[in-house]
Amino acid sequence: MRLTNLRRSTPFRLALSFALLFILTVVATGGIMYHLLRNGLNAQLDTALNDTFQVISSTYAPDDIEDLVTTLDSYANLKPADDGVYSLIDASGKKLAGNFKAPILPEGVFTVTSADLGLKGSTVYRLQGAKLGQNTLVVGRSFAQMDSMLRTVLVSLIWAAVLAVLAAVGGGIFLASRAQKRLDGVARTMLEVSNGQLESRIPLRNADDDLDHVFKQINDALVRLAGLVEGMRQVSADIAHELKTPLNRLRLTLEEARQAHGEQDDVARFLDEAHDECDQINATFEALLRISQIEAGARRLSFSLVGLGELLDLVEDVYTDVAQDNRQRLIVEPCRETYINGDRELLVQMVVNLVENAIAHCPPDTVINVSLRRDGPIAVITVADTGPGIPAPERDKVFRRLYRLDKSRTRPGSGLGLSLVKAIADLHGARIEIEDNSPGVKISVQLPAL
Ligand SMILES: Nc1ncnc2c1ncn2[C@@H]1O[C@H](COP(=O)(O)OP(=O)(O)OP(=O)(O)O)[C@@H](O)[C@H]1O
Ligand SMILES: [Mg+2]
Repeated sequence: MRLTNLRRSTPFRLALSFALLFILTVVATGGIMYHLLRNGLNAQLDTALNDTFQVISSTYAPDDIEDLVTTLDSYANLKPADDGVYSLIDASGKKLAGNFKAPILPEGVFTVTSADLGLKGSTVYRLQGAKLGQNTLVVGRSFAQMDSMLRTVLVSLIWAAVLAVLAAVGGGIFLASRAQKRLDGVARTMLEVSNGQLESRIPLRNADDDLDHVFKQINDALVRLAGLVEGMRQVSADIAHELKTPLNRLRLTLEEARQAHGEQDDVARFLDEAHDECDQINATFEALLRISQIEAGARRLSFSLVGLGELLDLVEDVYTDVAQDNRQRLIVEPCRETYINGDRELLVQMVVNLVENAIAHCPPDTVINVSLRRDGPIAVITVADTGPGIPAPERDKVFRRLYRLDKSRTRPGSGLGLSLVKAIADLHGARIEIEDNSPGVKISVQLPAL
């Protein structure tokens, strides 16, 4: 799947939203965990500091500070200076014991840096100080151990978040592409059906899940639709087929009557008209049968390489004079040869029908322009005229069988020319567009090129 398609895919968007939600949850949970842990460790540090302070200060006696000095010194020598700091100063600020000389601080608990204490390094300390008689006892604990523990926790959380992001995005893409594959199957089938391949069905996974259930219902509907269309096709083909023989007999009878009658009177004229009508009905049935035959798709088997430029040249050779006789001008624009895989005879018929329509339905002085261009993988044949045009609401209807605009009903024709064009286009997997040529109509057929 290409990236642009991926961004437009609903399963991918859903997966991405869930992945984002998952990532946010992991980050928020990690943040809360880190915050709680830090508060807990801070409280623990304060408790430990207070315990140590109480133990040391309990060795103080108002008239004898020897025990206190010994205890403090033994604590000071026990711990490395960046972890625990101890100091006993007298009223003049002179250090009596400990591993640093405390500045004169108010009583209580504080957070200070090693610079505040005149120590080297960049350690942060929690200090507790209190007056013991005339002297001040200060006990401190560094945050170093707690910081290193928090750093380890933070690194673990970052790793967990990175893994969660990878798992969420990777899992999301995997699940989304699986769901997208199934949707692509539906889109492909619908495209094939709309291109006339009514036998196409959505592939099922037999997973007995909700999607399979819906796809099965769509497939059942397609089976019914194909049956109906096939039935209609069959009926119109059968009628045309069944009526051909009696019609031909009627035509022959009229010809015989005409010959037997001989003279040029009203009866002879009526017989001629009835004969022409028979020809028209015959042509209509021929066209109906031809459309049914093309729609059945058997001609696809005889597809070969067809040069569309050469095909347009042929139409130009035949129809330039026909247009001129009608005082119209047919222009076939010079173009680069473009090949497609198709049925040459039917493709000629398709372009001829469009050109004949322009000639038949447009007044004198109309310019009929036929062109071929290549648009990426598509070959576009356009037939445009400067005639009366086809009103927008009628543009879809003119492809229906036997449909003609009101103003054309008095002209000869059966309203099957564009139905045949549509059947041929469908057979070749082509799209047809009718646009306004202001004035006139522009019909373009977009065929898959080689
Ligand atoms: N170039 C055009 N300009 C104006 N109207 C058009 C043009 N082409 C088709 N039409 C309209 O579309 C209708 C259907 O065209 P279609 O070719 O199917 O039938 P037809 O030309 O009337 O008969 P047939 O082609 O079977 O002899 C026409 O009757 C006409 O009203
Ligand atoms: Mg026509």
